[in-house]
Amino acid sequence: MLNDLMVNIRNLEYTFNQTSMFCLQIKNLEYSFNGVLGMYGLSGSGKTTFSKLLAGIIKPVSGLVSFLTNGQPTFPKIMYSPQFPEKILLGVHIGETVQQILSHNTMSTGVFDSICTYLDKFSLDFDVIKNKSGFELSGGELRRLAIALCLALSPELLILDEPTIGLGRRGKTQLYRVLEEFQQKHHIMIVSHDFNLIRKISGHYWILDRGSLIFSGDLQALEHRQDIVNRVGINALEHYLAATIKTEEQRTL
Ligand SMILES: Nc1ncnc2c1ncn2[C@@H]1O[C@H](COP(=O)(O)OP(=O)(O)O)[C@@H](O)[C@H]1O
Ligand SMILES: [Mg+2]
Repeated sequence: MLNDLMVNIRNLEYTFNQTSMFCLQIKNLEYSFNGVLGMYGLSGSGKTTFSKLLAGIIKPVSGLVSFLTNGQPTFPKIMYSPQFPEKILLGVHIGETVQQILSHNTMSTGVFDSICTYLDKFSLDFDVIKNKSGFELSGGELRRLAIALCLALSPELLILDEPTIGLGRRGKTQLYRVLEEFQQKHHIMIVSHDFNLIRKISGHYWILDRGSLIFSGDLQALEHRQDIVNRVGINALEHYLAATIKTEEQRTL
């Protein structure tokens, strides 16, 4: 059973420093998680920044991000799988890193088994990679490892930032299958500059443009916003609509 979870954003502002040209500004936003949420925007629109603010990894300059469950304030467990897993995993010893994760999560049972199970679903064998360093894994393997670690910690909200970069066709299909199952009991947000991917996985979209949220709605609502479609370069939306995925075979990414 999926927990009720709502995010409430008030006058959120973030800038990197005073000289930065970029400013993220989200005035007021209330959203009840329901199915997979897709965050889309062109490169540099602020997706990663907004995701990290939601996950609490960076703090806003001003404003508030809060979460509610059944109308009550809550602090959900959120896992953020980074856009650049190599920044974190390149120099580390995989086995030791997994040990550290386990020692920080002694309250959660079955985490180790879960890590191995998810790695297996992504065609990675813990016994093979446990003695390796991040340098010895490919970009796609690092990403699958990062995602598997996030999944295994069973967050209430999983945020996947550009999860398919470096994954081949098989890796994308595996990811899609895993998320199909995971979404039954967890909230998921997929962040991508690839609308095709977002469309296949998500039912509700947030669209960012130059640090602002310019759309929150489903495909039907987006269909009526040609201005937004043009502005953020979602080409041939008609084609996407016509190809709405129905069958399992078609769901291969
Ligand atoms: N550490 C940083 N310092 C300064 N500017 C940054 C930093 N990280 C990102 N930016 C800038 O902030 C803007 C938004 O970046 P980001 O949130 O990564 O966008 P997206 O994920 O949509 O590609 C971009 O213009 C980017 O150049
Ligand atoms: Mg990004």
